[in-house]
Amino acid sequence: MKIPALQAVTVEILVDNFFDVFEPSRPGIVERVVPGRLKKPLLAAHGLAYLITLNRGGKLSRILMDAANAPLPLFNNLEALEHDINDIDAVALSHGHPDHYGGLVEFLAKRTRGPIPVYLHKDAFLPKILITPRGRIGPWVLDLNQLVAAGVELCENQGPQLVLDQALLTGTVETTTVYEKPLPGFRRQVAGQEEQDLFPDEQALVAVVEGRGLVVIGGCSHPGIVNMVKYAQKLTGVQKVSLIIGGFHLTPGGDELIKHTIQGLKELDPELIIAGHCTGFQALTKLAIAFPDNFMVSCVGTKVMVVGG
Ligand SMILES: [Fe+2]
Ligand SMILES: [Fe+2]
Repeated sequence: MKIPALQAVTVEILVDNFFDVFEPSRPGIVERVVPGRLKKPLLAAHGLAYLITLNRGGKLSRILMDAANAPLPLFNNLEALEHDINDIDAVALSHGHPDHYGGLVEFLAKRTRGPIPVYLHKDAFLPKILITPRGRIGPWVLDLNQLVAAGVELCENQGPQLVLDQALLTGTVETTTVYEKPLPGFRRQVAGQEEQDLFPDEQALVAVVEGRGLVVIGGCSHPGIVNMVKYAQKLTGVQKVSLIIGGFHLTPGGDELIKHTIQGLKELDPELIIAGHCTGFQALTKLAIAFPDNFMVSCVGTKVMVVGG
């Protein structure tokens, strides 16, 4: 599937689980905020929201990928980082878990610019349940009626879909690695019947930057981050990987999953890996050791820039 090569892609981390004032910047590649210069303090929360800016021939398009776990961190951080929600051109949802859409309805209600396209997999609307050691949680449901009532331009997909004609949502991820298997505890309801959630609704947002290759942006990466990048390579025909960013959801899979994923990421040979959100502390520490030069922890307020050349 042909997608245009862009001049640059910027991913700004609006909401994520972490903030660490000591995480370094890398000039021209990764910029961290200086808290004392912000309009108000940033909030970290168990959720995810990225502001993605695509530069095609100097024309900028802005996509909100995921909408955090709740309105509070989303709007607090948009304000702290001085973004106007009416500057955002589209929304894309990584999957139908509430830590990724918790601020969506309020975001739509606060916008005054008119209908906005909202891209998501049709299965993101199915009720989701989580079985944890501390009990059963859910079901959570992303309410289709609320989105329709907000007047959005609904762009549902199952297979690959272009976003604003500039980036690609992968649709259901083709799983090819042997080690990235569905983790227990995730359930969904289909026509009233409960079943294991294999996350057909999870998709990566993929862009191609001229001379740099793929930017692959994941949410929780429940189908496996290596599977997601490999599928992005297959769909676009572009092998070179510039940036992999997202929550990788690795710690519950234990040491074996972490070890194999690190090996898989090494084979993909990306220029930079940024992981946060649901990756898990154990996995983050192992990734940091495995990739001493090209791994960074995702923190709120971080801006990651991939510039073509
Ligand atoms: Fe998540
Ligand atoms: Fe998730």
